[in-house]
Amino acid sequence: MKIASQELVAANLPTTTADLLAIPVLEDEAGGPLLSVLDKALGGVLERTMADEDIRGKRGQTLLVHTHGKISAAKVLLVGLGKKADVNEDGVRRYAGTVARRADGVRAKEIAVALPDSKVDATITLNAAAEGLALGLYRFNRYLTKDKQETVTAAATLLCGKDARRPQETLDKAAAVVKATCLARDLVNEPASTLTPGQLAGHAERAARELGLHYSEMGPKEMAKERMELLLAVSRASVEEPRVVRLEYTPKGPARKKIVLVGKGLTFDSGGLDLKTAEGMLEMKVDMSGAATVLGVMMSIAAHAPNVHVIGYMGCVENMIGGKAYKPGDIIKSRAGLTIEIGNTDAEGRLVLADVLSYAQERENPEVVIDLATLTGACMIALGPTTAGLFANNDELAKAISVAGDENGEEFWRMPLNDGLKELLKSPIADMKNVGNRYGGAITAALFLKEFIKDGVTWAHLDIAGPATSEKDRDYLAKGGTGFAVRTLTRYILAQG
Ligand code: BES
Ligand code: ZN
Ligand code: ZN
Repeated sequence: MKIASQELVAANLPTTTADLLAIPVLEDEAGGPLLSVLDKALGGVLERTMADEDIRGKRGQTLLVHTHGKISAAKVLLVGLGKKADVNEDGVRRYAGTVARRADGVRAKEIAVALPDSKVDATITLNAAAEGLALGLYRFNRYLTKDKQETVTAAATLLCGKDARRPQETLDKAAAVVKATCLARDLVNEPASTLTPGQLAGHAERAARELGLHYSEMGPKEMAKERMELLLAVSRASVEEPRVVRLEYTPKGPARKKIVLVGKGLTFDSGGLDLKTAEGMLEMKVDMSGAATVLGVMMSIAAHAPNVHVIGYMGCVENMIGGKAYKPGDIIKSRAGLTIEIGNTDAEGRLVLADVLSYAQERENPEVVIDLATLTGACMIALGPTTAGLFANNDELAKAISVAGDENGEEFWRMPLNDGLKELLKSPIADMKNVGNRYGGAITAALFLKEFIKDGVTWAHLDIAGPATSEKDRDYLAKGGTGFAVRTLTRYILAQG
């Protein structure tokens, strides 16, 4: 969608041309200056309808009014934002998402959106609104042939505070983040048979070429040379070759920090011989969400060009069954040298990550490593479907990620890495098992990964099994892939440059 910005001047609202004009309503300022100007031009109809329908600016309340030619906009949409003091950055993003959905629902092609005056800085407000609008219009419709549900809303003018700095640059950067997030969503939503490891790598290669990121990949031969036996074991029953993708962003000037991102890219997780139930398997095309987020972050970083050296890895593999499948009870040597007894072939993500983490740390020698994975159902049991588990060996990194998350409406909750539970990963015949018992499943998975983190490396593990997808359309999220953590990690990395 095309987004432009303009300074918000209340007196100009009646002459603002649009198919729909959106106005924020604050609970404690229900008759604010924007509303009173419009209400006067509309002969009091806004006030009366608001009173009739008991609209007082509560969060999420909306009211659509036809203007019958009394002002230049054909329709006015009022959207409640709650109390002024409670409006934060993500409140603005949700407001814009709600506006986009309603506007598109009433087939408004061009819209004008007044942005709220709150404690949130005007530039941040503009950025969040631009993101919310475009993300709110996302839909995965490429396989619909009958009712294509094409987006109607094609252009928006954001009416923002006069203090917004470099508005065009702000809009361009928002557009880059949105594009990256929507590609991540598309990849998560794409069926597993049309998004194999090779195809996922292909998408990364095209995006890298377009944005000037350095791209390289490893196939089974290179993996064997690198002794990535855990990754290869997971992949063994699949007819699809695995890929490890490496994407590199190198800053023009001297780098302040070197950060490695590693994403779990299971394009399909059948569970392997420890086969999932039909219900459990149904959603498992989304098991490459971590890798999709890594690609999204790399795209968005390329567009922002911070002074940080960032390298993204995607471990792209399919976990299948068949005569060649790796088996429960197998003992496999990891790239790092530790032998692993396979207690469950469905705990495959940590095996793939272990080998990629070990390779990435040796090759890049980074200060910070962040991995992302739809790793455990247990994390969803612990935190619910919308919050990510955050594990870290460093308080500052944990704090920085969760602050960036709050600003972006992405919730991370810190979980403990209690060493006591390492006991559960002990094996009598190998250095370690790949599963614990049924308690603390998200923690034992994180403790398994921790064994592959080198001393001195600052590390965080994000278990995104829940928030990588949304069960329904919500604010600026659509049912299906969310592109979770693309925005948060972009913000975190920019703060390091
Ligand atoms: N990919 C799954 C985790 C998952 C579950 C992601 C639901 C998204 C939604 C992972 O590979 C897995 O199967 N984990 C097992 C681990 C167990 C065997 C120790 C699980 O969570 O049940
Ligand atoms: Zn699994
Ligand atoms: Zn998995």
